Amino acid sequence: EQSLKESLYLVSEYASKYFQETMHNTNAGKAIALSYFKERGFTLETIKKFDLGYCLDEWSAFTDTALKKGYKLEFLEGTGLTIVKGEKQFDRFKGRVMFPIQSMSGRVLGFGGRILTNDKKAAKYLNSPESDIYHKSKVLYGIFQAKQSIAKEDNCFIVEGYTDVIQFHQSGITNTVSSSGTALTSDQIRLINRLTKNITVLFDGDAAGLRASLRGIDLILEQGMNVKVCTFPEGEDPDSFAKSNTENELREYLEEHSQDFIQFKASILFEDSKNDPIKKAETVRDIVNSISKIPDRIKAEIYIKECARIMDVSEGVLFSTLAQLNQKENN
Ligand code: CTP
Ligand code: MN
Ligand code: MN
Ligand code: MN
Ligand code: MN
Repeated sequence: EQSLKESLYLVSEYASKYFQETMHNTNAGKAIALSYFKERGFTLETIKKFDLGYCLDEWSAFTDTALKKGYKLEFLEGTGLTIVKGEKQFDRFKGRVMFPIQSMSGRVLGFGGRILTNDKKAAKYLNSPESDIYHKSKVLYGIFQAKQSIAKEDNCFIVEGYTDVIQFHQSGITNTVSSSGTALTSDQIRLINRLTKNITVLFDGDAAGLRASLRGIDLILEQGMNVKVCTFPEGEDPDSFAKSNTENELREYLEEHSQDFIQFKASILFEDSKNDPIKKAETVRDIVNSISKIPDRIKAEIYIKECARIMDVSEGVLFSTLAQLNQKENN
C-alpha cells in the first residue's frame, strides 16, 4: 500500500531530524552523544554527513513529541520507533546514539542505535525491526553517501559495521558500505552490481565470522563480479585501523593486503587441512565449488590452474570435478 509506505517514510525522516536536533541542540545531547562521537574521532562534518543523532534516555521523549506534532501512533509503531504495550508507549532506542540507514536515493528506511554504557547485558547495537520500508537483507549502510565514489573508483569496499563505514569516509575512502553485521545477501550485492563489478570485503581482525562469511562471498562470484578480501591485524577493525593511521598508510595497507578471493580461500583452508588427506580433499572440493559459481569460463579456467598450484593437486582432477559440478547444476 503506497500511502502506508509514504507515511512510514515521513515518520522516519522526522525521527532522523529529531534525533539530530536532540544531539546538537540539547544539553544532554551535547554532553552525552556529541561528545561520544567526537571521542571516537568523528569530526562535526562527518557527524553531519551521516546524520548521526541521539535518542534521549527517557521512556518516551521522542514518541511524545512526534504525537504532539501530529504523527500517528500507527505509523510510529509501524516503523518500530515506538513500542506499544497496552496503554503505554516507549521509545525503542531510548538512550542510544542513532545511525539512520538510508536508501540509495537518501530516504531514511530505519535506524541502528548504539548503547553508550559498557553494560554487557544490553545489546551493543539495536536495529529497526523489519517493516514495510525496512528490509535488513536489502539495504547497505552508507550506500547513499558512497554510490558516486563506488562508480568512480570502480570498486566497493564492504566492511562489517556502521563506524567502519564512517571512519573510512572520513579518511577519504568514500567507496565504502556495510552489510551491518549480517551475512551478505544477493540483494545487497545486486545494489553494488549496478555501480561496479569489483568488490573488496574487509574483515575485522577477530577471525570469528571469517570462515562462515566465506560462503556468502560465493554469491558475489555468482553475479559474475570480482571479489577480493582484506583482513586487519588481530584486534583491529577498519574503524580502529583507519583512526590510528594516516590516509596514505591506510591506502597502502589496503593495496598490499587485498588478496584475490579464490587465492585467499585456498590459502587459509590449505593451512587448516594440508596434513590431513580427507580434509584436504574436502577443501579442494570446496574451492572448486566456489570456482564453479563463476559464469566466465576463461576466468574459471585460470582459477583452476591457480588452485592446482596452491593445493598441489593435478589440474586434470580439478577440471573433471568442475565438470561434474557444472553438470549437477544443469540437472
Ligand atoms: N551488530 C548488531 N548487533 C550487535 C552487534 C553488532 O547489529 N549486537 C552489527 C552492527 O551493525 C555493527 C556490526 O554488526 O556495526 C559489526 O559488529 P562489531 O564489529 O561487533 O561492532 P563495531 O561496528 O565494531 O562497533 P563499535 O566499534 O561501535 O564497538
Ligand atoms: Mn516491502
Ligand atoms: Mn566484529
Ligand atoms: Mn568491528
Ligand atoms: Mn569497531
